[in-house]
Amino acid sequence: MNNGNTAVIGNQTGDEAKAKVLDFLLSIEEFDLNVRWNGGNNAGHTVWIDGKEYKFHVLPAGILHPHVTNVISRGVVVDTSFLVGEINDTEKRSGVTIENLVISDQAHLIMPYHVLRDKLEGGKIGTTGKGIGPCYEDMVGRRGIMIGDLIGVNGEIRKDDFVECVGSRLERENRILTGAYGQSPLVLGDIVEEQFLAAERLSRFVRDTQKLFKEEQKRGKRFIFEGAQGLMLDKDFGTYPFVTSSATAVDGIFRGTGVHFEFDRVIGVVKAYTTRVGKGPFPTELENDPVGEYLQEKGMEIGTTTGRTRRCGWLNLVDVTYANEINQVTELAITKLDVLSGMPSGKLEVCTSYEDGEPKYTTLDSWPEDIREIREHGELPEQAQTYLQEISDRTGKPIKLVSVYRDRDATIRCDITPRSPSKA
Ligand code: IMP
Repeated sequence: MNNGNTAVIGNQTGDEAKAKVLDFLLSIEEFDLNVRWNGGNNAGHTVWIDGKEYKFHVLPAGILHPHVTNVISRGVVVDTSFLVGEINDTEKRSGVTIENLVISDQAHLIMPYHVLRDKLEGGKIGTTGKGIGPCYEDMVGRRGIMIGDLIGVNGEIRKDDFVECVGSRLERENRILTGAYGQSPLVLGDIVEEQFLAAERLSRFVRDTQKLFKEEQKRGKRFIFEGAQGLMLDKDFGTYPFVTSSATAVDGIFRGTGVHFEFDRVIGVVKAYTTRVGKGPFPTELENDPVGEYLQEKGMEIGTTTGRTRRCGWLNLVDVTYANEINQVTELAITKLDVLSGMPSGKLEVCTSYEDGEPKYTTLDSWPEDIREIREHGELPEQAQTYLQEISDRTGKPIKLVSVYRDRDATIRCDITPRSPSKA
């Protein structure tokens, strides 16, 4: 293959700093389209550009690269009012008018009753409460409402059809909300008015993205795909039922775009340790442990979307290897390596296997030096180089990028190749 197509995918439980990697690649390579294919505003993608922090949720994180068309494709679920707020905020902060956005008419709408139901039912999983699960549930249950039911690809707002469409769903939703949860019923007029208001702002971006992708593919354009969440949160391959409701793995790109793409590169993004927000298994967690607290504080591990403190633990190479297989990863990008500088014990643990269901660790040395200013692999402390080599050896994958701080330029391009077949 030599089409330049690249997928940037989370290989853990989300929050791997995928957006940092994506933004770096967009700044050094030529891509024509950046595509979000799954999830919605449950995601929190942070990039630092010229010393300014931008947090994106459903807006693709490449939006501030003006020559790149940023697409919210059919597999994404969209809260229209939230998206309008995000566009307005981004324009205000950046001083740039957003022109390079395209939204699929087949993306499903997150309705207010989805958000309410998520808040009422999502506690046992620890969801973000953004309505993601209930929206995908309605999609599968054939009750979903698409952007195209509200806005046609010609930009027309389909008022009468939309009122009828929402009205037919609302009866059922209000029965659940009032009967099962003792909530007040939602009012049709309020819902559609809010959607019409958002539609005025969004109508110019709506298109048939499957057609757009096919046309651009034929013209030899280069695509980059912006993953949301991580493999262990994939609805099929993750730690079910403690997962999100979308396809976070590479195969999600096909269904989430409607086009069979081939990739030059699938970059598995791996944070140098592990974090998880919400409930669910976490074998290498450092719970009530000073090292876990150290990682949480130094790594500023607070959820971008919910403000929740992230659970922290050691790197789990068994999970990373599993993610590599499913995602057909061709190379790894290791992020937040700087957080492991100066570990209080001077030691790092890496989970390399399980015995009787318990993680088995390999112990490595930490390094005292601050590495945030380093830009060459060879200048990293020896222990940091060993840590990276161990990851490559045990997963059998090359490491091509290492992030040593949040800024775009705090990134090391390298080529660390595995010295032996996968051992993890
Ligand atoms: P939902 O996606 O809101 O339904 O939440 C399901 C699970 O996925 C919860 O444990 C969330 O904390 C987690 N989750 C959802 N989105 C993200 C993300 O972007 N990063 C990390 N965890 C996430």
